[in-house]
Amino acid sequence: MPDRVLRAISAPTIDHRGPDFAGLVTDLLPALGPVFGTDEPVVIYPSSGTGAWEAALVNTLSPGDRVLGCETGHFATLWAQLAGRLGLTVELLPGDWRHGADPERIGARLAEDTAHEIKAVCVVHNETSTGVTSRVSDVRAALDAAGHPALLLVDTISSLASIDYRHGEWGVDVTVGGSQKGLMLPPGLGFNAVSQKALAAKKTAGLPCGYWDWTPILAANAAGFYPYTPATNLLYGLREALRMLDEEGLAAVFARHQRHARATRAAVRAWGLEVLCADEREHSGSLTAVLLPDGQDADAVRTLILDRFDMSLGTGLGRLAGKVFRIGHLGHFNDLSLAGTLAGVQLGLQLAGVPIKPGGVEAALEVLREAQA
Ligand SMILES: Cc1ncc(COP(=O)(O)O)c(C=O)c1O
Repeated sequence: MPDRVLRAISAPTIDHRGPDFAGLVTDLLPALGPVFGTDEPVVIYPSSGTGAWEAALVNTLSPGDRVLGCETGHFATLWAQLAGRLGLTVELLPGDWRHGADPERIGARLAEDTAHEIKAVCVVHNETSTGVTSRVSDVRAALDAAGHPALLLVDTISSLASIDYRHGEWGVDVTVGGSQKGLMLPPGLGFNAVSQKALAAKKTAGLPCGYWDWTPILAANAAGFYPYTPATNLLYGLREALRMLDEEGLAAVFARHQRHARATRAAVRAWGLEVLCADEREHSGSLTAVLLPDGQDADAVRTLILDRFDMSLGTGLGRLAGKVFRIGHLGHFNDLSLAGTLAGVQLGLQLAGVPIKPGGVEAALEVLREAQA
């Protein structure tokens, strides 16, 4: 997290019913739209990302509604399980955790559904457990080609403000976000960007919806307030993070993430290791999952790197436990922080006795050098 954001968060908490608070919200909400690529409302919750997942579902759907998910990895699976617990009928298109949501399979399934029983398609834009980015615009095209009216719900928790994303242009109905990744904030804010179609669906949605209900929040937001006690200090941080993103420019932010992802893949391949993502079109800009050879324990490597170098890598989640580690290269990150990160990974792999070739860091520097030339 940038110092600027931390300093902003440390300001005194103001009265959330007073006039200064309204100024904060009316500054903040218009600045948030461009990050989602929307002019439509963005609801902010004091919640983790999981809360924002639930909000997307309970505001738009009714008990027993059929929801189509895509098993891109751990988080897509958790979202589907949550939908099931809410009383929705979930159908999960199986996946190998190395590819994104498949637009062709989604289109084929929707074309079969001539009775339009499927009410929503859920896609995780950037699967944090695998480092695979789904092609949401192609998924939109598949819905359109099938002439299917299902809502499109997209999780951008690890892509928002890191990977190009266009809620409006791609016809997404609810975009789910969280504060703790590309927005460079601590955990604690959840987001729903909401289309007019989603607002219309809300009128007939029958799932119980109390805390998550968009209606009182949007009504209070119009005057610059919230119907409950908001996470005021995180909102200070959000305002500062949005200023930083605006100063750098979103296009430059996305390009920086892609550059770091390319450099990381160059390092992984030079080490002779495999990137988990199996489709060149779907590599994540925000993290890279690295597969270790059979017989090597990815968590042992992570533990060694944490102990010796105080650097924390992402663990393998779900069925990838012990098989991969994940290098995060998102948020407040620059070329030299990436170079240091990759040097730490290379040292750790060598010290852990994983058989690698030594040229990874140099291969990454080559990518960074070319980009700077
Ligand atoms: C893609 C994705 N979706 C959902 C979640 C769940 O968010 P939270 O842990 O903030 O509830 C995460 C968390 O890392 C995530 O990466």
